[in-house]
Amino acid sequence: MWDVQVSAGRRTIEDALEWGQEVLERAGIAGARGEAELMLEACLGVSKAHLYAHPERELAADEWARLREWVFIRSKHEPVWYVIGRAWFMGLEFLVDRRVLIPRHETEVLAGEALREAGKSQPRAAVPDRLRIADVCTGSGCLAIYLSLGLKQVEIFATDISRDALDVARENARRHGVLEAISFTQGSYLEPVPSGLDMVVANPPYVSTEQMKDLPPEVRDYEPRLALHAGPKGTEAIGAIATQAADKLKPGGLLLMEIGFGQGGQAREILKQNAAFAEVEVLKDLAGIDRIARGRKV
Ligand SMILES: C[S@@+](CC[C@H](N)C(=O)[O-])C[C@H]1O[C@@H](n2cnc3c(N)ncnc32)[C@H](O)[C@@H]1O
Repeated sequence: MWDVQVSAGRRTIEDALEWGQEVLERAGIAGARGEAELMLEACLGVSKAHLYAHPERELAADEWARLREWVFIRSKHEPVWYVIGRAWFMGLEFLVDRRVLIPRHETEVLAGEALREAGKSQPRAAVPDRLRIADVCTGSGCLAIYLSLGLKQVEIFATDISRDALDVARENARRHGVLEAISFTQGSYLEPVPSGLDMVVANPPYVSTEQMKDLPPEVRDYEPRLALHAGPKGTEAIGAIATQAADKLKPGGLLLMEIGFGQGGQAREILKQNAAFAEVEVLKDLAGIDRIARGRKV
């Protein structure tokens, strides 16, 4: 069904875009034109502006073969970011594949908040102590790498239970030139991290067993289950990280966790019931949705 006929011989950018759009539309992909553009940009290594400035440019045989393969894979509903092997987070490019969650726009709220808070407490003395920050559940490494690039005096510990995810995170750190600045360790949440932390950031799994069934096929069938599913309630990882962070943060240290839709009340309760935390708050994103749970270690 996906294999719409294309004329043999000359294939221009304009032909390729129209063909890609048509195949993706037939496969029921929303935003088919935009995705055809994205794949062609990545396939040719050009900008969107180039596509429209040079619609008559002919594709080489290998470019056309690659595009056909990518459009075919996408038409089976594999996320477009896995197909092109990259995604953008806070304006930075990250390698992504099925070993890691695709960084989400929602998580940019956590990234911005963490950088703002860490910036406030950046040491300014002549011989400064370095801030110690843990990014638990690092996945592609997007949060740890963003913070490492944005802060001067910082020591970052990034953990994940998945060895595969850590391989991707390390490669992303290498590409961004911060491999030496981040210590990547396999383990459960904060277990492998030393205590005395100034900040813990986490975008943990927060989908409940029930909600897993309702995820779109792009997410459910392709993204790592380990990155999504928290347990029957959905707040299991949030609770475990809060408990561990109470031990690992130094007094005055900050815990910032992304939470799922509708979890604001539960996350607030989890933090309020833990005597180690004060200034408990749930922050909203620009759409007014509860997005981050925060608490300060007393
Ligand atoms: C929602 S993804 C977040 C990835 C990345 N930080 C981001 O924001 O895009 C959650 C990550 O938590 C990891 N994970 C799941 N259980 C874990 C555990 N017990 N300890 C550490 N990491 C865990 C998964 O492997 C996955 O990479």
